[in-house]
Amino acid sequence: MLQEVSYLDWNNSLKILNKAYEAGLFVLVIGPKGTGKTSLVRDFAKSKNSKLDSINFSLRTRESHLVGSKTLTEGTVSFEEGILLKSMREGNVLYLDEINSAEADVLLRLDEALDDRRQVILKESTGEVITAKENWFVIATINPLTHSGTKELPPQLLSRFPVRIRLEYPPEDIELEIIKKHVSDADEDTIKQGIKLANTLRQAAAVEELFYSPSLRETISFGKLVSAEVTPKEAANIVFGNVYSQWGQVEYQKVSDIISSMFGK
Ligand SMILES: Nc1ncnc2c1ncn2[C@@H]1O[C@H](COP(=O)(O)OP(=O)(O)OP(=O)(O)O)[C@@H](O)[C@H]1O
Ligand SMILES: [Mg+2]
Repeated sequence: MLQEVSYLDWNNSLKILNKAYEAGLFVLVIGPKGTGKTSLVRDFAKSKNSKLDSINFSLRTRESHLVGSKTLTEGTVSFEEGILLKSMREGNVLYLDEINSAEADVLLRLDEALDDRRQVILKESTGEVITAKENWFVIATINPLTHSGTKELPPQLLSRFPVRIRLEYPPEDIELEIIKKHVSDADEDTIKQGIKLANTLRQAAAVEELFYSPSLRETISFGKLVSAEVTPKEAANIVFGNVYSQWGQVEYQKVSDIISSMFGK
């Protein structure tokens, strides 16, 4: 069922990633959820024939996830490498997802690895100096600061990602093209209506009239339900409308009214 869909490079992000890669400059991708950040990075790594090492940061991420830790197996102590070291040694693409969700102290070790020397001193075990293999490349993402649980990235870390790509919701005609890559046989006018609805909700969320902003995941899912012969109105309620009931009847009713005005009573 799940086929890999190639990334539609609608704002030249892939091109900029390639330039950054050639110049050895690390990249920060900034944008709200579901705007294609992960798909972009996956496609880029694939195009470079490079292995992709990914880590999704949260409050529970520890320095040991990045660098590694000592483990005791059958009486012998050995050092188990974390994802940062592994990617440096192998010269892979390292994807640091939602880097601004981590505690600041976890990020300190990245300052070391990401400076011009690309080295980490293994103070955890032998004190060995690990130097990154050529072509090691790092891409990080951050969600906008309004996103719950996010913190400001420390400036010294921010400065280690001098190439910054903004990835927002695409214009309507582009979003239609993207959905058509994922949904083969849906009615174009209906999809356009779904995108219009999504943008109305996004705009309302942007000015804090609603609590939630639908992403490309939702517009793609709307397309899939419609192509599975769910009626447009019902698909709109299922994908876009119902979720707002978790913020109460008033919030839900606001969105229901918008859906009725666009898809009929
Ligand atoms: N330019 C694009 N071309 C093809 N598909 C896309 C594009 N942008 C987004 N998509 C699709 O939209 C969905 C969400 O994209 P993705 O998971 O990459 O977003 P994200 O920004 O990483 O989200 P999150 O912030 O929640 O991790 C995926 O199904 C992806 O394939
Ligand atoms: Mg993602």
